[in-house]
Parts: sequence; structure tokens; C-alpha cells
Amino acid sequence: MQRVLLIIGGGIAAYKAPELVRQLRSRDLAVRCLMTAAAEQFVSPLSLASVSGDKVYENLFDLTDEAEMGHIQLSREADIILVAPATADLMAKAAQGLANDLASTSLLATDKKIIMAPAMNVRMWQHEATQRNLSQLIADGVSIIGPEEGDMACGEFGPGRMSEPQTIAAATAAALAGRAPDGGADKTLSGRKFLVTAGPTHEPIDPVRYIANRSSGKQGYAIAAALAARGAEVHLVSGPTALAAPQGVHMARVETAREMLAAAQAVLPVDGAVMTAAVADWRPSDCDAQKIKKNGDAPAPLSLTENPDILATLAAAGKNRPALLIGFAAETENIEAHATAKLAKKKCDWIVANNVGAESGIVGGVMGGDTNAISLICATERKPSVENFDIMSKHEVATLLSDRMAAHFAAAKSKGKTE
Ligand SMILES: Cc1cc2nc3c(=O)[nH]c(=O)nc-3n(C[C@H](O)[C@H](O)[C@H](O)COP(=O)(O)O)c2cc1C
Repeated sequence: MQRVLLIIGGGIAAYKAPELVRQLRSRDLAVRCLMTAAAEQFVSPLSLASVSGDKVYENLFDLTDEAEMGHIQLSREADIILVAPATADLMAKAAQGLANDLASTSLLATDKKIIMAPAMNVRMWQHEATQRNLSQLIADGVSIIGPEEGDMACGEFGPGRMSEPQTIAAATAAALAGRAPDGGADKTLSGRKFLVTAGPTHEPIDPVRYIANRSSGKQGYAIAAALAARGAEVHLVSGPTALAAPQGVHMARVETAREMLAAAQAVLPVDGAVMTAAVADWRPSDCDAQKIKKNGDAPAPLSLTENPDILATLAAAGKNRPALLIGFAAETENIEAHATAKLAKKKCDWIVANNVGAESGIVGGVMGGDTNAISLICATERKPSVENFDIMSKHEVATLLSDRMAAHFAAAKSKGKTE
């Protein structure tokens, strides 16, 4: 059984910690809780001990703890460290490498994967200092889940609310699933080269204005990270996003659909291509060299020109066509029918369809959010096969798809050997 060291910081969201422990345990993970002194103001050690079925650790200088379990040993015995809620204070300490209590010491005394689920008032989250610490933590390899936007306990609205326990538990299980039980990485895609596109495109109207969409890039970045974790050589071509490059991935940042196509073609040939980017279908026909001025007249109509179709272009790339070409179809209605039609029209091998409409059942929506509900539609010699999946974190979707891709290439290899 894999072990999670759950560090609980002193924020209001700590009341969700018992539910998080329950969610982690329901995924067959053993959970050991470590609370900061402030966290004890929000949730009782007794309730955490009850749900985790283990002693709860609190004090760096507790002689009993040190005799039973040295302060370094806590993080050494874990397979992953999860900080939820991650307070502004804990993030600052971890970014600076401070170690003045049991939580911060455990975060510093580890080489294990760390996941943080921040939760705080929207102004604390948006403060330059917190954003600086966040960038440092991401650069140090810490994975961040959330925070999400919504009404907060302090009466304000905005980003700062901790992601739901189910989402955090799913992402933690997915991060652990990327590793073999012995802790060594599963490298079943080593020797394979992948192209992943992600994010929106920006199509300029003039030097300061552009047409864009709500894509955050989270799903594509998670897929790139999952493929890289399996040992693949991954080239991520990304439209404008606020996300840091995943570890071990070659990254090209572009703005427009035409730039994305050129950058994608430059990566060919590849074994697999996963086209998650939400590429603008149209761009303004002309991009003014100067900012268009408001002069009191009615605005000039915006004339649009169709952008190149990146997925269809790669499908028609002859000997450079990726051996496995996967498209994404963001639909708001008749999901399966539209996606199946896209599979045939674009001549790709698989389509991952997702419902980005209001009825998706996903709080906050798929675009920009942390969860996704997908259908996987695969071309076969006869009728396309369709599999529908429940709502999952985007990390879980990435793990699922990388598992399927690894299985596809393994099957193709053994078929090649027997033919
Ligand atoms: C009622 C109350 C609610 C708080 N909620 C939060 C919170 O949600 N997020 C946060 O970062 N800090 C919050 N704080 C401030 C932290 O408790 C404070 O920074 C504390 O020192 C954090 O300690 P820790 O990081 O060791 O847990 C809150 C404080 C109070 C009094």
C-alpha cells in the first residue's frame, strides 16, 4: 500500500481534511496526518486520528514522537507528500526553505514528490509575495492543485478556495500511479517521441487586442507530464497560458494558430500526437499595425479568415503522419455524434470528446477547471468504439490516456513481431 503524508495547514479549509483522508483511503492509500499548530484551531487531531487510523503528528520537539518516529523519518516513510490546505504561510516557508516547525522541516527533509492544494483569501492568493512563492515552488518541482474560484468563507469571491477533496485525492492517486510499486518510474514509453499541443491561440486584431477562448492548457500540460513521466520524449507546443513547463518536456510557446501549426510540423516525425489545443477556427483577416481608435463612428466590421486545420494537416502529412494521432473535441451538445463525425472527417485515430457545456455536471466548467468528463472514441476497421468515463481530475485523464497509449504501442510492437 502506498503512503501519503498529509500536512494540514492552519486555514479554514482544514475542516475538509477528514473528508480528504477518507477520499485518499478509499483509493487504497495509507494516510498519516501531520498538523501545524494553527491547523489545530480548525480541525481536531482526534477526528484525524480516527479517520486515518494512525497517530497524528504535530510537534517538532515532542520527545515521544522523536523516540517513536524521528522528524526526518516522517517524510522518508511516505511515497508522496500532500499539503492541504497549503496556507500562504506554509507556501512561503517551503519556497524559502525554512524549517522551524514539523511541517516545514518535513517539506525540506524530503526528496519525495510534493503536491500542494492552496487555500486562502483571494487577496492573499493574488499578492505578489504569494505569486512569487508559487513560481518558486513550481520551479522546484512542486505540483499545485487549484485553488478554485468561488464564494469564500471570508465573504469574498475569487480564486483562493481549496479544490474539493475528491479532486485532490484523485490527483494524488494519479501522481502515485505514474510510479511502479517499488518507487521506480514506469518507463514504458521510453524511446517514443510525442507531440502535444495545448492551450488557446490568440489571433491579433491589432497590437493590443486579440480573439481568444477559455482554454487554460491544464489538460494538455497534464498529458505532456504523464507521457514524460513514462519516459517518452515529449514536445509541448503551447498557446498562451499561465502554466509552467512540465518537468522534462521540450516546450515551444506560440501565439497564433499558424505559429502552432509551424511549431507542430517542426517536431515531426513523431510516434504519437495529442492535439488538445483549442485552436481558433478563424482569425481577423487583417491585423492593424496600430491600435484601432474609437472615433465616434460605428466600429468597422471584423472580417474573419479560416485558420489552417492543424489536426487534419497532420493526418495528411504522408510519411510524416504520426503513427497514433489523437484529437480532442470540445462539444456542448450531441457529444458522441459530433466527436464521431470529427474522427472520420479529420482522419485521426482516436478522439477524446469532452462536454464543455453547462450540463457537463462539472462545477466551474471544464475549460479552466481541474476536472474533465471524457469519452474515448477509437477508429476501428468497422464501427468506432466508444467508452464513456465519469468525472475525473485532469491528471487522472492524463494517466488514463498515457496508459492507453502505452498499451497501444506495446500491442503494435508485439503484432509487428508476430507478423
Ligand atoms: C479564522 C482564520 C482563518 C484563516 N484562514 C486562512 C486560510 O484560509 N489560508 C491561509 O493561508 N491563512 C489563513 N489564516 C492565517 C493562518 O492561520 C496563519 O497564517 C497561520 O500562521 C498559518 O500557520 P501554518 O501555515 O503553520 O498552518 C487564517 C487565520 C484565521 C484566524
